Amino acid sequence: MKILIINGPNLNLLGTREPDIYGSRSFESYLVELREMLDGDEVEYMQSNHEGDIIDALHGASCDGIILNAGAYTHTSLAIADAIKAIQIPVIEVHISNVASREAIRHTSLIAPVCQGTIAGFGLNSYFLAAQAIIMSPER
Ligand code: DQA
Repeated sequence: MKILIINGPNLNLLGTREPDIYGSRSFESYLVELREMLDGDEVEYMQSNHEGDIIDALHGASCDGIILNAGAYTHTSLAIADAIKAIQIPVIEVHISNVASREAIRHTSLIAPVCQGTIAGFGLNSYFLAAQAIIMSPER
């Protein structure tokens, strides 16, 4: 199975950005472990701080499922929601932090209604759990 992970704005700074919330591990370091844990499945990864790049990645995706952490665009981007709606590949919304326990603005997700489901609050392990959701999907 082929999985694409898309990380949005500021997630390139994982490891040093607000470590009390996001932990002190870089995504690149976690990705090595994730690929080991998902041995047998292919994991592609891209990160961008730019909304249009994320939309282009969604449009161009060729895989069985997409794990999307849209960062703050989660709460603001109708354009990313429209891009998810426009493609046939299932998208799982992921957050490292438990957004429901944070500021009110983070309680709203414009992408949640067009994603297959949401996994939030399990630290970097949220990505592994999302990968399991794709791999174990009864539709595959
Ligand atoms: C985040 C939560 C968002 O509210 C925030 O803007 C992020 C990271 C998370 O993974 O917890 O950049 O998506």
